Amino acid sequence: MKITRRDFVKTGAIAGSGLLLNQISPSNIFPRSELSNSPIVVSTWSPNLKSNARAMEVLLQGKNSLDAVEEGIKVTEADPNDSSVGYGGLPDADGKVTLDASIMDWKGNAGSVAFIEDIMHPISVARLVMEKTKHVMLAGDGAKKFALQNGFKEENLLSENAKNAWLKWKESQVKKDNHDTIGMLAIDKMNNLSGGVSTSGLAFKLHGRVGDSPIIGAALFADNEIGGAVSTGNGEYVMRTVGSFLVVEKMREGLSPQKACEFAINRLYKSLKDFSDINISYLAISKSGDVGAYSLKGGFTYCFTTPNENKAITSDYLMK
Ligand code: GLY
Repeated sequence: MKITRRDFVKTGAIAGSGLLLNQISPSNIFPRSELSNSPIVVSTWSPNLKSNARAMEVLLQGKNSLDAVEEGIKVTEADPNDSSVGYGGLPDADGKVTLDASIMDWKGNAGSVAFIEDIMHPISVARLVMEKTKHVMLAGDGAKKFALQNGFKEENLLSENAKNAWLKWKESQVKKDNHDTIGMLAIDKMNNLSGGVSTSGLAFKLHGRVGDSPIIGAALFADNEIGGAVSTGNGEYVMRTVGSFLVVEKMREGLSPQKACEFAINRLYKSLKDFSDINISYLAISKSGDVGAYSLKGGFTYCFTTPNENKAITSDYLMK
C-alpha cells in the first residue's frame, strides 16, 4: 500500500542512522545556543526523516551544508514510495513525470532546473547548473541535454504505482491533492547555510506546468547572514507572493523564523478568495539555528535534526 506523506506518522528508530526519532506537537523554537556550533538540518514533511538522517551523516563527516542538502534530497528523489518527488512522482496530465528543483549555497550562488524529464536526481543537476554554468536555471529538453552531457543517466521515472494512479485519474478526472515537495535547509560545522528543493509538482498538472520549486525566492531562499526558508504546497500562490524571499526578508527585519513564516502565510491568506484544495506551508531557520514553521491549513509536518536527535514535528497553522 502506498503511504502518502499526510498519512505518515511514525515513531521509532531510523534504520541504520542511530538517531532518535519522535513525533511531537507544535513547538517551533529551538535555540541554537543549546546546540553550540553543532550542525542542524530541517526539511519539509515527516517521511523525510530518512533524508535528514543522511544529510546529518554527511555533515558529521565534516562536509559542507551544500553536500548535505544534495545528498539528503537525493534520498527522497530515489524513493519510489514518495509520490511527489523524483522517481515514483505522479505524472502530469500527459503521463509524463516532469521535475523541478533548486539549490542555494552560503555564498548566494543558486542553480535550478525546471520541467526536466528522465533524470533521477534533479537536485544534482541544479547544483551543476550553479557550479558549471553562468546561468541560474535550465529548463526542459535543454536541462536534460545538459544533464546527459554531464554524465547523468536517462531513466524511466514513471513507477507502476504512479502509472496506475494516472490511468485511474484519466478515467475519473477526480482532483488529486498532492503537494509534498521536499525543501531542506542545513547549517554545517562552519556555520554555513545551504538549501534545496525538489518535486514532481502538482499531480496531473498541465504538461509544461512549472511550480515554485525551481524559482529562487519562491520555494527557496538562503542568505548566510540571516537564514533560509523553503515552501511546500500549491506553488502558484507561493510564486505570486515570492514567499521564501519574503520570509527571509522579515527575518532580516528582526522577526523570528516562526513569526516570519506566520507573516508570509497571513499575507497570502489575505490575497486568497478560494481556499478549497490548497495548502501552503513555510519552514525557516535563522543563522542562529532557531526554527519556525507555519501553514495555511493543518497537516504540515517537518523534520528537525541535530547530531543527537531526528524528530518530526507538527506545524502550527492559520485556518483552525
Ligand atoms: N510546491 C510544489 C509545486 O507547486 O509544484
